Amino acid sequence: MNRIVAIDRIGLTVTVEASVILDALRAALSEVQRDLPISFGASDSATLGGILATNAGGANVLRSGMAGRMVLGLEVVLADGTVVSELSGLHKDNSGLNWTQLFIGSEGSLGIITRAIMRIETQRRHSATALLALPDADAALRLYTSAVDALGDRLVAFEIMSSDAIRRVETAFNIQSPVSTDAWLVLMETASTSSHLEQDFGEFIEKAFESELCADGAIAANEAQRLAFWRLREILTEAEALSGRSVKHDISVPVSRIPDFLRRGEAALADVASQTGARLAPHIFGHIGDGNLHYNILCDRPEVAGEINSTVHDLVVDCGGSITAEHGVGQYRLSEVYRLVSRTRLDLQERLKAALDPDMRLNPGKLMGRPRS
Ligand code: LAC
Ligand code: ZN
Repeated sequence: MNRIVAIDRIGLTVTVEASVILDALRAALSEVQRDLPISFGASDSATLGGILATNAGGANVLRSGMAGRMVLGLEVVLADGTVVSELSGLHKDNSGLNWTQLFIGSEGSLGIITRAIMRIETQRRHSATALLALPDADAALRLYTSAVDALGDRLVAFEIMSSDAIRRVETAFNIQSPVSTDAWLVLMETASTSSHLEQDFGEFIEKAFESELCADGAIAANEAQRLAFWRLREILTEAEALSGRSVKHDISVPVSRIPDFLRRGEAALADVASQTGARLAPHIFGHIGDGNLHYNILCDRPEVAGEINSTVHDLVVDCGGSITAEHGVGQYRLSEVYRLVSRTRLDLQERLKAALDPDMRLNPGKLMGRPRS
């Protein structure tokens, strides 16, 4: 199940079996100057089948969308053993419902994905990356807005990391951030098929300094430095685990509401801390361009976790957001999803489940497999 079945350089498609690992696939595509722009820390172990069943996100979503957006066709085994297959790889096919999307994010509840055909793109061989220190989330949002204006779809990543989280990385791994941290660090990356990129990027960063949005910053001078910037970003989760227990959230809000959400979150958590006596320490990072924050809270009192969870999630809903942006539902978020997601959406899912898997064979008790209450 881990074969790359075919790469079509002209039709810009790749056909894979479900157990192909993302890194192996991107390496194979790179050999023929093509790419599947999905990027996240676990890419050395994540399989395409899992990536699609959970509709994974990552650092490049602001440009390419979530993994499911790149699907042209699937082969899926249904609960009754039927194999449904649409692997023609056509870029245009409106001969019926786009059924493949039913299985994206279904977490194995409606069928098992066994093959996929994905839309790929010409590899962007030129890239430029910067690490920048910013005084607050409003400045980060302003910088993001001007980056979108100046760089368009060459902007491929715009990641934010709180200085508290960076400090934990420095302590846990005995390394030093190359940029002195203000309240936030931003890691931004641009990529293009054209070599004009570097100059445009340099000019953009210069302007950001002139307008005093950034307090400090560095452009990666070579690939080793670029990888060092990304390493800071990718070991945030490990540094968090080494710093104590935390209550994790994977939330999204409309991009423009990120500063408002952060301000209100800080105030709401201060209330929880004073009411419960718990010591709370935020460890926040995420993907600004997607309005997606990993709003994780280190907490010394496990019994307060539920209250932190519901406080954060209620605020997310009030900001017009989602309580699970890119990590899915699984078991951890199932009860909060049933508490906060609209009844009509849950009903529709349950009706699809009843039609495709009436005996609840697939993933019982999980998403869509929950007995009706
Ligand atoms: C990340 C994972 C936690 O963004 O989604 O690092
Ligand atoms: Zn993430």
